[in-house]
Amino acid sequence: MSNTRTQFSSRLGFILAAAGSAIGLGNIWGFPTQTASNGGGAFLLVYLIMVFILAYPMLIAELTIGRYGEANPVRSLCKIWSNNKFLASILGLIGITTAAAILSFYAIVAGWLVGFMLSPICDMLGFSSAATWLESFGAVRNTILMLIFMGLTMYVVSKGVDDGIEKWSTRLMPLLIVLMLVMIGYILAQDGATQGLQMYLIPDFSKIDADLIISAMGQAFFSLSLGVCVMMIYGSYLKKDANLPKTALQVALLDTGIAFLAGLLILPAMFVAQHNGVQIYNDAGQLLSSDTLVFQVLPAMFDTMGTMGPIISVLFFLLMIIAALTSSISMIEAPVATAAEQLNQSRSKSVLWIGGAITLFSIIIINNFGALFGLVITATTEYAQPLVSLAFALIVGWAWRQDKLLAEIKSGYEGVESGLFWKIWPWYVRIVCPVLTLLVFANTIM
Ligand code: PHE
Repeated sequence: MSNTRTQFSSRLGFILAAAGSAIGLGNIWGFPTQTASNGGGAFLLVYLIMVFILAYPMLIAELTIGRYGEANPVRSLCKIWSNNKFLASILGLIGITTAAAILSFYAIVAGWLVGFMLSPICDMLGFSSAATWLESFGAVRNTILMLIFMGLTMYVVSKGVDDGIEKWSTRLMPLLIVLMLVMIGYILAQDGATQGLQMYLIPDFSKIDADLIISAMGQAFFSLSLGVCVMMIYGSYLKKDANLPKTALQVALLDTGIAFLAGLLILPAMFVAQHNGVQIYNDAGQLLSSDTLVFQVLPAMFDTMGTMGPIISVLFFLLMIIAALTSSISMIEAPVATAAEQLNQSRSKSVLWIGGAITLFSIIIINNFGALFGLVITATTEYAQPLVSLAFALIVGWAWRQDKLLAEIKSGYEGVESGLFWKIWPWYVRIVCPVLTLLVFANTIM
């Protein structure tokens, strides 16, 4: 069966698809929001440390499991942990369920992007009440916009890996980077921007506490799409001649670079907006409505751009929707591929029932927003993702026969066994990653 599976058609295609999964709302909505609410530079610093000492080694682990298995995550995990197939399957199922749960809130936020993209268009056409409605928080509006985004996601995934996912990712990611650079150039020239820049780049070490550390860890796992079998399923479509540690590094660098740029845009933009009279902090110095912060600050910035404002705004939100789409399709791909292979179903049938179930759950969240939205985010990103990743690291470190692991890494990376990587990494995922992750949790509980 593995011979008939599709693969990414080129190495660049894979890197862009995996980076496409990594780059999304986590970078442009999650990271700046977290940075702003956790004191700026201190968060940036801890985040960067988390990405490189914890998330990156675990990204290699997840990609390696997938490529070795050449199958859906449940099957790949069973292949490695062959004397405990039951637990391996449960773990795979927890991972893909987490991916589905993430999509249920992700689609809501991505729906807001759809609203903010359509709103200036309605304005230009003279439908100003529709424009206002699209930007105003409300259950009906949230539901309709979420449905549009889920529909797009299900459509692309039903097309399959090479035709849908890869094509979209390769085309539009570079454009987003260019547009962000232009916007950063613009915002840094405005009054008030330096204050944001200072907050972002000069760490205030007194802000570092257990909460900040666990948020930074969760954000790093979220941003690299870890612990939810997504990188595992993408790894399973990767050709055997790809160098795994190098590919993972490229993905991690691209993802972190974009998050950094987003901070460089949003934090100064916050202070420019404040300078222009938009209230962003309450009297106690806390951010107002942190979830929707980005959606207040960006339109405030576009408003100052004159006639170009609406055009740049539509373009920016359009590209963001695409970035979100290359992430959302990766989230649904993990459960869909698993269901299709394990239950012997057609891809389109699995897309339909899995997408339908996620949509229902999204509707429940929308109608209990205050109680569920933040809860689902915390449960999935701060707890499930790091803990499932931890289990993956333990499996790679302890359950996998080291000669087989070496053979898998060697494919695409000749001579790895004599280099530094092979001296450090296996021990690192076996001991350091699990201990570090547990330390962060212990710290939070105490
Ligand atoms: N990494 C994606 C982002 O930053 C989100 C994501 C999480 C994608 C988990 C897949 C799996 O937006």
